[in-house]
Amino acid sequence: MPDREDPTATDRGGEADIAVHWQEEPMVAPPRAVRRPPHLADPTLKPRFASARFPGSFEAYAEMLTWSRRWDRTLDADRPPFYRWFPGGRLNASVNCIDRHLPDRAASPALVFVPEPESEAPEVLTYQDLYDRVNALAAYLHRGLGAVPGERVTLHLPMTPELPIAMLACARLGLPHSVVFSGFSGEACGLRIADSQSRFLITMDGYFRNGRWVDLRRAAERAYQVAHAEGHPPEKVLVLPRRPGHARWEPTLRPRVEIDLEAELQSYRSAREVAQDLPSDHPLFLMYTSGTTGRPKGVQHNLGGYLAYAAGTTYYYQDLDPDDVYWCMADIGWITGHTYIVYGPLALGAQVVLYEGVPTWPDAERPWRISEQLGVTVFHTSPTAIRQLRRLAPSGPGRHRTRFRLLTSVGEPIEPETWHWYFSEVGRGRAALVDAWWQTETGGILCATAPGVDPMKPGSAGPGALGIFPEIRDEEGRVIPPGSGRAGALVIPNPWPGQMAGIWGDPQRYVETYYRRFNLHPESTDWRDWPYVTGDGAVQAMDGYIRILGRMDDVINVAGHRLGAKEIESACLTVHAVAEAAVVPVSDPVKGRCPEVYIALRPGFEPSLDLADRVTRAVETTIGKIARPTRVWFVPDMPKTRSGKILRRVLAAISNRRPSGDLTTLANPEVVAEIEQLVRTARERSDAEAGRQ
Ligand code: WT7
Repeated sequence: MPDREDPTATDRGGEADIAVHWQEEPMVAPPRAVRRPPHLADPTLKPRFASARFPGSFEAYAEMLTWSRRWDRTLDADRPPFYRWFPGGRLNASVNCIDRHLPDRAASPALVFVPEPESEAPEVLTYQDLYDRVNALAAYLHRGLGAVPGERVTLHLPMTPELPIAMLACARLGLPHSVVFSGFSGEACGLRIADSQSRFLITMDGYFRNGRWVDLRRAAERAYQVAHAEGHPPEKVLVLPRRPGHARWEPTLRPRVEIDLEAELQSYRSAREVAQDLPSDHPLFLMYTSGTTGRPKGVQHNLGGYLAYAAGTTYYYQDLDPDDVYWCMADIGWITGHTYIVYGPLALGAQVVLYEGVPTWPDAERPWRISEQLGVTVFHTSPTAIRQLRRLAPSGPGRHRTRFRLLTSVGEPIEPETWHWYFSEVGRGRAALVDAWWQTETGGILCATAPGVDPMKPGSAGPGALGIFPEIRDEEGRVIPPGSGRAGALVIPNPWPGQMAGIWGDPQRYVETYYRRFNLHPESTDWRDWPYVTGDGAVQAMDGYIRILGRMDDVINVAGHRLGAKEIESACLTVHAVAEAAVVPVSDPVKGRCPEVYIALRPGFEPSLDLADRVTRAVETTIGKIARPTRVWFVPDMPKTRSGKILRRVLAAISNRRPSGDLTTLANPEVVAEIEQLVRTARERSDAEAGRQ
């Protein structure tokens, strides 16, 4: 079966079904204290990006980069939905993010690394330092290991300078990198190594998180085994120490496979590596993300289009200049970190804070302390982090002398209450707040307000970004007019430079997943016939502002991290006693959504705490702790249609304490009352226990 995603299907119990509970809020004007950036306030800006100017309008973003050869055409759309931006152009991402800043900014900070333990002082890397270290690693990969352009490298690294250094070293050589979030398990890492057929894995002995040392090196052993079993072991596993000179690992893999990277780099310290001059459509990186099927897909972003879009949107929506101290608290292991910690800000020569740990270590005022100490002016984080910080220290921000002028919220819907706290307490009513909507696949921001210029609407991502004209469509694909109050599928009609180039190794899946839904003419070579289907449900107000309701497919957005329901289900099924598993999203006051899992056991097995534990551990080892289900419910049977399909919608309703709706399509409607009863009893029991404590 092709992997068809039906974004308007209603039997899935997707996030959009637990639609956001807030109504349209009144607009908030940008605070008068906020500067009106002249490049944004320019009245000719939006007209220059009008739809009639497409695609030439996006040349303005490409112009922000340094090219060794100018492009021949803005956009090659001869074979939609496969697009080539700025074809004929040649460039290198590491040159754009480092070399070109050296004449003016060699001694200026590029990265300010803040370790999680407060006993370790922040470490500043200037653009010159970054240049030296990227060159050393690139020289070793090229001369020491013979890497040639196009070979993939998997990076399983934490939030330390080595991660952006490794990314930029890969970019310098034209090696597409695939960063695997450090919180992902060895097994998850191994599958991604195999899928991308990476030649190398670069990892670290460990890192600090929540006050504890996390052994990352151990995951590499498992990753190697899994990739090996899949038929694509990496040729080398390169291990770095978290603290130079203090390695905390012992080699256990085969000799000559596992390499002490710190030792190797000694001989390349002052090496210079010529940057590869690459075509605009060379793959820059892969980023694995979850979708409807159990298998994560490698979203491919190509050099010229992606980097132009990263630089352009960072300039207009993060409004960075070289005087700013910019801190995006996301992890580089997700797309937000790729675009708005590494490529966008460094392409603009900005000063970027890199924080190793969690925002609440050792207490929930840490982010404000760091911001005060480093003079952070532009701050970027997720609603989950804001909710946590607010809950633990509601008047924390007020106790610090921060000087934010721009705040960003990204990754999940932000409810007005949290928005107002972020705006008034963190920003003191003196900072613009950008609610940025986008996705791994889109490469950069697609909906947001222009900071300091556009009025803001709490709980609502802004209008389409420059050159982006979002639409809401009903099940038949008809456009729902703005202001009608009706929800539908969020669609982007025209291509843009940050758009993914494809799914690694699976062009068919790319077409099916993102374009088939509203494509009426499969043979058409006109891009107008290939609207991009986001998978999100949304409502558009009369003024064009978009309120995101959540995913309509089997993706669950937990704390701003995207998890596939099917992936979690496959993990549960690795426990022998489990016959069937169904995962549903549940509203959570801090994380936005959390996964709950329903399990039907094989005959001969009885529910037990031990089994629940084993299911939870199976999810942790196959995916990672972030995917851990908050509850495991053992049910006598799954609610099923007559054709045997599990109706997750019904389970999602029970988990979210809502009426289970129409049960007429069920083959076994009686099981619903049983499950409801079972869940209710368990909840009463745990509420009673909580009350006693
Ligand atoms: C999904 C994409 C944004 C990059 C990081 C996440 C949800 C993202 C918002 C927002 C409401 C949002 C959507 C989207 N989402 N930003 N501002 N308001 N929802 O990238 O992991 O690919 O997840 O995150 O549901 O589809 P991702």
